[in-house]
Amino acid sequence: MNRILLLCLLLVLPAALPAAERAPGVAAIASAHPLATEAGHEALRAGGNAFDAAVAVSAALMVVEPSGSGFLGGGMYLLHHAADGRNVVIDARETAPAAASRDMFLDSDGNPVRGMSTNTALAAGIPGEPAGLALLQSRYGRLTLRETLKPAIRLAREGFEMYPRLAAGVAFKRAQLSKSKEATAIWLRNGEPLPIGARVKQPQLARTLERLAKEGFEDFYRGRLARALVAAVQKMGGLWTLEDLAGYQAIEREPIIGYYRGATVISAPPPSAGGIALVEALNVLAGYDLAKLDGVTRKHLIIEAMRRMHRDRALYLGDPAFTDVPVQRLIDPDYAAGLRTSIRYDRATPSSSLEDAPDAAAAGMNTTHFSVLDAAGNRVAGTITLNAGFGSGLMVDGTGMLLNNQMDDFSIKPGVPNIYGLIGAAANAIAPGTRMLSSITPTFVEGERGHMIVGSPGGSLITGMVLLATLDWLDGRSAEQIVAAPRIHHQYQPDVLSYERAALTLEEVASLKQRGHEMRERESWGNLQVITFDAATGKVDAASDPRGVGTAGIY
Ligand code: DON
Repeated sequence: MNRILLLCLLLVLPAALPAAERAPGVAAIASAHPLATEAGHEALRAGGNAFDAAVAVSAALMVVEPSGSGFLGGGMYLLHHAADGRNVVIDARETAPAAASRDMFLDSDGNPVRGMSTNTALAAGIPGEPAGLALLQSRYGRLTLRETLKPAIRLAREGFEMYPRLAAGVAFKRAQLSKSKEATAIWLRNGEPLPIGARVKQPQLARTLERLAKEGFEDFYRGRLARALVAAVQKMGGLWTLEDLAGYQAIEREPIIGYYRGATVISAPPPSAGGIALVEALNVLAGYDLAKLDGVTRKHLIIEAMRRMHRDRALYLGDPAFTDVPVQRLIDPDYAAGLRTSIRYDRATPSSSLEDAPDAAAAGMNTTHFSVLDAAGNRVAGTITLNAGFGSGLMVDGTGMLLNNQMDDFSIKPGVPNIYGLIGAAANAIAPGTRMLSSITPTFVEGERGHMIVGSPGGSLITGMVLLATLDWLDGRSAEQIVAAPRIHHQYQPDVLSYERAALTLEEVASLKQRGHEMRERESWGNLQVITFDAATGKVDAASDPRGVGTAGIY
């Protein structure tokens, strides 16, 4: 009798698991570069899980897409641990050095000094990336660092082919990169970026990575490498000390959770604004039956939701260790209901009527995101960044590594926009040891359909892209359709609706203008990396944004 009961239970159990929890049986990786996707596959082949693959992909990206991320940068990893269903975020965001101060990027008249928070060693926060990788590897991985760093070391030593997107980044950052002899030798030839197809070799970085593989990241924060980094940064005028490095901790955090149309949205918590903003916007949209509305009204409402999520980002969000972030209030559906009362179907709400703020500049296109799923159902959504392309562009000679310029993600003065045009207030002011507010939005969406792993670079544009991807997935679109879909964006300030040409018909542009939106067509943006699992068919799908050069593999 008992055996029959057990048998029944075994038969029923898998079906009783939530759709998103079933083991997919195959693995998938989507990243911004084919060699990074392949590095993750190599880790899986060596017996690694999704977390090992995430370490391998991250390290490889830092070598082959060095404009997007680096060991002297930071980021966040959203993990799903299949064995116990737990979701957790590894916060590897940089911190302000202890000697940093609120007005450090202002002159004696209180005005921002141009380029100081982006192009100097003062722009560099204390790196979180190595601590994040160490935590990911040691707590969740099955392999050793030696194994997961292997592809990155090989790529740094043996090189990879220069490609047009990277060469364009080098050209853009030429002045900064050429301040270092080593960076010049790696990236430039006669003052020009290495020609397309030339082999890019990074011998110093290979040596640094070999050492890290052998000695672990302890060396980075407390050992010989720490001493070399501090000496170099101080020589360049930066503020890092040995105590700053030794005191750095990657933090495990609970993700932000929201609910929309029967789906659960799991995303990045502060010090990223991503999860809160995403859930807030979805809560606003939950008050409308979007599927029943005409296309242009639907887009108008999505834009109004984006406007409000970015307003709250600017006003309330910062590092929860230093500022009181009203998380529960902002993700409460009742709060969203209040926001909805100011939305009209026929008129754009002027941002100035929500809150006074100055105009701002456009966004850059750097940072990187990857998504990983393994056959057991472990998942990683990782978004890592040096901030601007190649960070500050300043190389720490002898290490092959570039300094981040993440300090620009602080609000250097209330109302003064950062390089992505984002404004902020006291909640995101510079203070010793504080983590600067981020927009990165590594996210899982789970529902009856199965689940999606998603994220993108794009500075202020990131959260809106993840919002659109979430709506698209819930509307039944495939991974390929989601990454390719044309985009619209609003970030509260500047009070402008940005759009990719294919996102709106001429009639829609006219109709939105008539509602009072200031319209700006922009070059395409983003580099979305998506994996989907279909619970009904068991099919895993993966796609890399056609705007980039990345690839997605299913194994
Ligand atoms: O953390 C942030 O929000 C920014 N440092 C991300 C920068 C970024 O995505 C640049 N990409 N275009």
